[in-house]
Amino acid sequence: MTEQRPVTNATAVKVPTLPDAQTVTSVQHWTDRLFSFRVTRPASLRFRSGEFVMIGLMGDPDPATGRQKPLLRAYSIASPSWDDELEFYSIKVQDGPLTSKLQHIEPGDEIILRPKPVGTLVHDALLPGKRLWFFATGTGFAPFASLLRDPQTYEDYDQVIVTHTCRDVAELNYGRTLIENLHEDEIMQELLGAENLAKLTYYPTTTREESPKKGRITTLLENGTVFRDLGLDGISPETDRAMVCGSLGLNTDLKAILEGYGLKEGANSDPQHYVVEKAFVG
Ligand code: A2P
Repeated sequence: MTEQRPVTNATAVKVPTLPDAQTVTSVQHWTDRLFSFRVTRPASLRFRSGEFVMIGLMGDPDPATGRQKPLLRAYSIASPSWDDELEFYSIKVQDGPLTSKLQHIEPGDEIILRPKPVGTLVHDALLPGKRLWFFATGTGFAPFASLLRDPQTYEDYDQVIVTHTCRDVAELNYGRTLIENLHEDEIMQELLGAENLAKLTYYPTTTREESPKKGRITTLLENGTVFRDLGLDGISPETDRAMVCGSLGLNTDLKAILEGYGLKEGANSDPQHYVVEKAFVG
């Protein structure tokens, strides 16, 4: 006899009702300010690791007309291009138009996702080099969460250094867990290879709580601490390539520092030594 299983809410497949709707498959809250979530991936969506898309929810009805408009923000795709689902890493802004609502999503809910990926934090925007730096603050880690799971990141370079500066230790957890997973997860080991993963150096710093490395990454570069800690001579346009993603302040300050080392900013149409993208907040 065939066992008849009742269709519950948990197992029922929801029919998308929003334009460009995707279904939330999991949500993880990291702190009261940070969460990550995964959604279904449109079958036709192709993207390069490091790119972003517009995602969001329907806004509140207009009091006059009752009509609702989509409320969309740019979000870096945090999952690698080979993943079946899409992952995003977000801040929760309590009075933010989008994230005040988005932080309450649960598996089974729908979000809007415009399937047009773009962005400059892509391998194609950099000239070949020996050492690749990822400089992130806060949720600026998201595009690197994608690139760190992409084999090309390791195949193209001898060394990959990821720095992540957050206010406190708890805010580092998403990135720390992801990097630990690269080394521990059998699938990641097989996909990326132990030899490639040995190229990876993780350099987390905090600014408002004691931790093994305290200070803004900009300060630690300028006073030479990073180079002393990692046994490097410095950063040079001959060997080093960099991707930067954080607040406007971080991006501006780091651009000046990298230019000071002689690096030039690149773009998809003009590959150079470094690229910058704003970590989007909403
Ligand atoms: P700080 O605590 O000194 O402001 P946020 O959570 O506000 O997005 O910040 C994330 C991290 O980025 C914090 O540790 C913050 O340090 C750091 N940060 C902010 N602005 C800059 C900047 N201009 N250069 C380097 N780090 C920065």
